[in-house]
Amino acid sequence: MNAILEVRGVTKRFGGLVAVSDVSFSIAEGEIVGLIGPNGAGKTTLFNVVNGVYKANEGTITFTGKDITRCSPDKVVHLGLARTHQVVKPLNDLTVLDNVTVGACFGREYLDLAAAHKVASEVLQQVGLGDRAGLMARSLTIAGKKRLEVARALAAKPKLLLLDEVLAGLNPTEVALMIELVRKICDSGVSVLMIEHLMQAIMSLSDRIVVLNLGRKLAEGRPDEVVHNSEVVEAYLGFPDKVHEWSRVDKLTRRK
Ligand SMILES: Nc1ncnc2c1ncn2[C@@H]1O[C@H](COP(=O)(O)OP(=O)(O)OP(=O)(O)O)[C@@H](O)[C@H]1O
Ligand SMILES: [Mg+2]
Repeated sequence: MNAILEVRGVTKRFGGLVAVSDVSFSIAEGEIVGLIGPNGAGKTTLFNVVNGVYKANEGTITFTGKDITRCSPDKVVHLGLARTHQVVKPLNDLTVLDNVTVGACFGREYLDLAAAHKVASEVLQQVGLGDRAGLMARSLTIAGKKRLEVARALAAKPKLLLLDEVLAGLNPTEVALMIELVRKICDSGVSVLMIEHLMQAIMSLSDRIVVLNLGRKLAEGRPDEVVHNSEVVEAYLGFPDKVHEWSRVDKLTRRK
């Protein structure tokens, strides 16, 4: 399968701090790739470099064969790469529908307002917020705001979606619904790169996992390979006993 995203030797420094250090990996079309690692490992920074919020100090990023290393975020989203934010950023005083309309207006296609509204309505149905379209965004629960983040990104009609901890703060029922949504998004032809701390969820959703630690890529592989990698267990969990909890992924139903 063709690579939709190729990250090659990417380094991002903040002064003396190397937040992302010489990281390389790729995502094939149609894949769900999980990006995991301890707090401060550089996961969100890597998203910010990939979508153009920060410029890489070194390395290259290629998306659908185009070099996007120096592209601005608006150009990147126009090419078909959209993302959600770890800390949700709704436009609180706009309705849910208008929030998503903004995403549609600045997406892959140039849409007039009527067309953008139509796309936004469809996406709200898709993420299960159809009945809340007219509410102010500030009135949504945290689970609703996470869905709104996903909806805004989806309204841009991405080929690749970057999800930054969309399961954080959700209860088990909401987690299950969000997992189902991510699967449906992937089944609709969108590739997904997702950061997640919830191990069982990310292990059952992902085709492959990339592990970051202290800015560096520590490991990469199928979920069952990664859970049994002793370096990963030590760096990420600190104590090997936890691997039993991870290993329960073997018993979960995988996507394919
Ligand atoms: N804008 C910035 N300026 C300076 N340092 C930053 C900036 N953004 C991130 N960092 C630092 O870069 C490192 C990586 O942070 P990042 O937010 O990418 O980690 P993360 O893996 O997403 O962690 P978490 O799981 O807690 O979200 C941290 O040491 C962080 O303090
Ligand atoms: Mg983060």
